[in-house]
Amino acid sequence: MKKKLTFLGIETSCDETAASIVQENSNGSAKILSSVVSSQIQEHKKFGGVVPELAARAHAENIDYIIELALKKSIKSLSDIDGIAVTSGPGLMVCLNVGVNIAKSISAFTNKPLVAVNHLEGHALSPNLTNNIEFPYLLLLISGGHSQFLIVYDVNRYLQLGTTIDDALGEAFDKTSKMLGFSYPGGPEIEKLAKKGDEDFFRLPLPIINKGGCNLSFAGLKTAVLREIKNIKSNQEKYNLAASFQKTINKILRKKTAFAVNQFKDKTKNDCGTIVVAGGVAANKSIRENLEGLAKEKKFRILFPKIEYCGDNAAMIAWAGLLRYKKKLISNLSLQAKSRWPLDVSAPYMKGPGLKL
Ligand code: KG4
Ligand code: ZN
Repeated sequence: MKKKLTFLGIETSCDETAASIVQENSNGSAKILSSVVSSQIQEHKKFGGVVPELAARAHAENIDYIIELALKKSIKSLSDIDGIAVTSGPGLMVCLNVGVNIAKSISAFTNKPLVAVNHLEGHALSPNLTNNIEFPYLLLLISGGHSQFLIVYDVNRYLQLGTTIDDALGEAFDKTSKMLGFSYPGGPEIEKLAKKGDEDFFRLPLPIINKGGCNLSFAGLKTAVLREIKNIKSNQEKYNLAASFQKTINKILRKKTAFAVNQFKDKTKNDCGTIVVAGGVAANKSIRENLEGLAKEKKFRILFPKIEYCGDNAAMIAWAGLLRYKKKLISNLSLQAKSRWPLDVSAPYMKGPGLKL
């Protein structure tokens, strides 16, 4: 019987220290043998956001143990592993370096191949961990650091249709939550407290809703929230603002995703297809329901990763690494982490002054 490919994945790009063992089933699907995620939320909560040096120190303290635990849970040892996949960008350099260095050491020590994985590719392929999705598909990637529409043609083949020109969506949730005095991370807090509020209470702007194609913008929305907060007098009004903020986000995502679906149809010459929504913000139930409604309208299938694979994890890194290895996209011990690493390298850089939409 052919040996099943088995990969160790390591993820330390931000504030989650994670390791996972993933195996390829004989039909090409993924089998997650273990997925260990150690979140540093408690450490960063008191600062209202991630402090890079603290995050890097926590990664360095925990990573050996997390890898050992992932191996133990999967009932595998390093000798059973066919390769090591590690997030080598984009992310916080001091954090990425912890994962990259340990992955290089394991690779040197075991003489097993090292595969550099783009964190965004991990998210992009994450729904494949539990579903069978055919390429190409339309991806909406919404996380703490990124918000993009892409066509995923294959592993390592992406076309960016649009991106945020200022804040990422998760960042907008986190900042709004902080301004409202809610805790970190903001996304789950806003989602929870919005349930107590009236979503039609505040009228908030929809930045670049009718221009800029599939590009997104959330900075103006954040400023409007700040303006309203100054006049807020009760907790109920805070809940109303959280609910109105979430409703506004839903309006923006619906309109822009509809536009992206049309672009996908045009570029792939397909009349139907699949929308994949991935990244930490894809855990939000109201966003899921909203986009499910749109997909129905557009006669597209829509898929989300399981909630535990929406946020940062190493199963998605192990899986992306395994798929890259099959395409012979292998690195070596000279691998260096990089803070910026777009999936579509030909896409224009959309931030900064002078931007024309
Ligand atoms: O993908 P992720 O874990 O890390 C990055 O790669 O950035 O995403 C983290 C982001 C945070 O901004 C967090 O507030 C947001 O995802 N998030 C949510 C929810 N759960 C996490 N945003 C909205 N609603 C949620 N339920
Ligand atoms: Zn992420």
